Amino acid sequence: MKEKEDSKKKSAIVIGGSSGIGDSIVELLLNKNYKVHQISRHESLNPRVKNHVCDVINEDNLKKTISEIGKTEQGIDVLVYSAGCSMAIPLEYTKRSEYRYLFDVNFFGIMESIKSVIPFMKNKKGGRIILISSLGSNIPIAYDTFYSASKAAIDSLAFTSNIELNDFNIYVTSVLPGGTKTSFTYKRKINNHHAGEYRSLAYAVKRLEHMEQVGMRPEKVAKVVYRQIKKERPKIIVVVGLKNKIFYWISKLMPKKWLFKIVKRAFTSE
Ligand SMILES: NC(=O)c1ccc[n+]([C@@H]2O[C@H](COP(=O)([O-])OP(=O)(O)OC[C@H]3O[C@@H](n4cnc5c(N)ncnc54)[C@H](OP(=O)(O)O)[C@@H]3O)[C@@H](O)[C@H]2O)c1
Repeated sequence: MKEKEDSKKKSAIVIGGSSGIGDSIVELLLNKNYKVHQISRHESLNPRVKNHVCDVINEDNLKKTISEIGKTEQGIDVLVYSAGCSMAIPLEYTKRSEYRYLFDVNFFGIMESIKSVIPFMKNKKGGRIILISSLGSNIPIAYDTFYSASKAAIDSLAFTSNIELNDFNIYVTSVLPGGTKTSFTYKRKINNHHAGEYRSLAYAVKRLEHMEQVGMRPEKVAKVVYRQIKKERPKIIVVVGLKNKIFYWISKLMPKKWLFKIVKRAFTSE
């Protein structure tokens, strides 16, 4: 009986579901009766989710994990990619290994995940792919150059992948949260060695930490994600929260020179 009920449930994969925004998405999808698999380096403490321990930078492992889930569930209905990392290091001193790692986690992991789920979504005659981007993709964050660039790449990917995938009833949405109160703030890789030379670095880091810790709750992002999953025609870009929507549209409309001044003022004490 339980097996029959289970086979009717939709299946979802949340990558980066062990904490923060991903964890809230896992919880919400479980409550909405999805079978949820989560992929990350540490297991989720949620007893109802099926854990798969995997580092997204290990391409073969990631592809194998997704494929095994797809086969077990006979298709995948939803993919959410929430894994991410950030760093605060002056551009001049960022090592190639550091910015490559960031892009591997934030962007190339998405590429491999999307490629791996497409056949399983085609099997199900459709699917929903949600990519957790950031408001920082449009309003770049000081000393977090590679983070902002990786998130801008996600927005661009969401745009073009829809051109290719909508005919298969597969829709890709980039969700842009602003500051969100999670442990992300405390995992940021910070290189303070050049704080004497780059005088605004420490202030910029403090400002960003503040924006995140007074920001929205991860549950709010999860609700926005779920709303898109349920839509027949999901949006390509969704900004979370009214204030952030206003910032986003102002940043789109105003001359770049003005935006630059505002961002510079927000992140430097001068
Ligand atoms: N917090 C904010 O203010 C904010 C704002 C805008 C956008 N975002 C974006 O939201 C997403 C989630 O962030 P969050 O705030 O929820 O932070 P978080 O609590 O640190 O969650 C990050 C998730 O990514 C996973 N992860 C990180 N590196 C990984 C790797 N190499 N392989 C597999 N999984 C990995 C982590 O799991 P493990 O450590 O177990 O691997 C964790 O589940 C990120 O993409 C972030 O850029 C956050």
